[in-house]
Amino acid sequence: MEPAFDISWVRQQFPALTRGPRAGSEVFFDGPGGTQVPDQVIQAVSAYLAGSNANLHGPFRTSRESDRVVEEAHRAVADLLGCSEREVVFGPNMTTLTFWLSRALSRDFEPGDEIVVTRLDHDANHAPWKSLEEHGLKVREARFNPDDCTLDLADLRNKLTSRTKLVAVGYASNAVGTVNDIRAITRDAHSVGASVFVDAVHYAPHGPIDVRHIGCDFLACSAYKFFGPHQGLLYGKAEHLERLRAYKVRPAEESLPGRFETGTQNHECMAGTTAAIEYLAALGRRCGARAGDARRECLLAAMNAIRTYERGLARRLVRELLRIDGLEFYGIRDEDRFEWRVPTVAVRLGGRRPRQVAEFLGDRGIFVWDGNFYALNVTDDLGLEQSGGLVRIGLAHYNTDAEVDLLLDAVLTLRNQIRNGR
Ligand SMILES: Cc1ncc(COP(=O)(O)O)c(C=O)c1O
Repeated sequence: MEPAFDISWVRQQFPALTRGPRAGSEVFFDGPGGTQVPDQVIQAVSAYLAGSNANLHGPFRTSRESDRVVEEAHRAVADLLGCSEREVVFGPNMTTLTFWLSRALSRDFEPGDEIVVTRLDHDANHAPWKSLEEHGLKVREARFNPDDCTLDLADLRNKLTSRTKLVAVGYASNAVGTVNDIRAITRDAHSVGASVFVDAVHYAPHGPIDVRHIGCDFLACSAYKFFGPHQGLLYGKAEHLERLRAYKVRPAEESLPGRFETGTQNHECMAGTTAAIEYLAALGRRCGARAGDARRECLLAAMNAIRTYERGLARRLVRELLRIDGLEFYGIRDEDRFEWRVPTVAVRLGGRRPRQVAEFLGDRGIFVWDGNFYALNVTDDLGLEQSGGLVRIGLAHYNTDAEVDLLLDAVLTLRNQIRNGR
């Protein structure tokens, strides 16, 4: 039997949750906008700046240590994603990396070539591809089903043609929590000779990623969504990165992975990213990984345990929310299909604007986001953009049933106020 998920150990690792002036009086359901960070991330960032701060490739201690920090970070991300460290590219954030990639890939494309994107995605997986229309590319948009906010896979398939060069798809929706069948989509895309770019920003804190198993060509995520600092990451299959030409200054590095890392990188955040991954590996050692397991195995154990724990929280949250009349729910609600959602829950309440609901909760120390979260096509297609979008309750593995209860109580209080005309 797997050991129980040690939520009290988890919470102890996060100073925002258990220490400091407000610890315990605030509920962080704002993770989809950026999660809290454990002590070891804070310490790693600060230790780098205090003791190893330098540029790379110099003949002295701090520079050698910086070289090591950079190498370590590539290895850590490779373990997280299941790839080689040569296939990991660091950059400021996912959005910037994706614009960079679309520009680099455009050199391979010809006018009339096609790219398929989805209307379920964050705009960071839409705008960089749309921008290629100025080179004569055609961008086609796959729909989602408004009833349960799942991707319309038949529509996506219908949009694949012999001219499709790339399919850009999200692993999980940051607005409504839907998980897409990335493996099937990759298979379909490859069958017409198209590459696949996956935006895994929203999925990464919620489940294991295995780029070889998925078979995708590129995958991007952001460490600040999985308990690390503000740092973007990109996986690119070696065969693509070896071939693609980077926009670089002279005499920049030509070998992988440095070739694509333009300018001086954010070394302190790389140290912090390694520490976030180490935190997850440590969790994995408490959740079923065996002594002597490699870091990759520990990470898989952690992410599987997180997924199971979060599913329990989400089940309760969704079940109880659905009992509240006057509440509108967007996304997968059927528990039998919860493997196709992460615990990111989108609602509206009693005709109130989402900002008012988020403010009401925020005043009670419960932090949730409202609006479109840059998933503009989602709120547009649901007909909600003009009236303030959605309220997004974003659970993470450091949240508890007791916090879910606090949220449910607050939502019920607000619903009753609305009913009583207040
Ligand atoms: C699904 C998704 N994709 C992309 C992004 C953009 O990531 P970044 O802030 O690293 O550019 C976000 C951020 O909210 C996101 O949730």
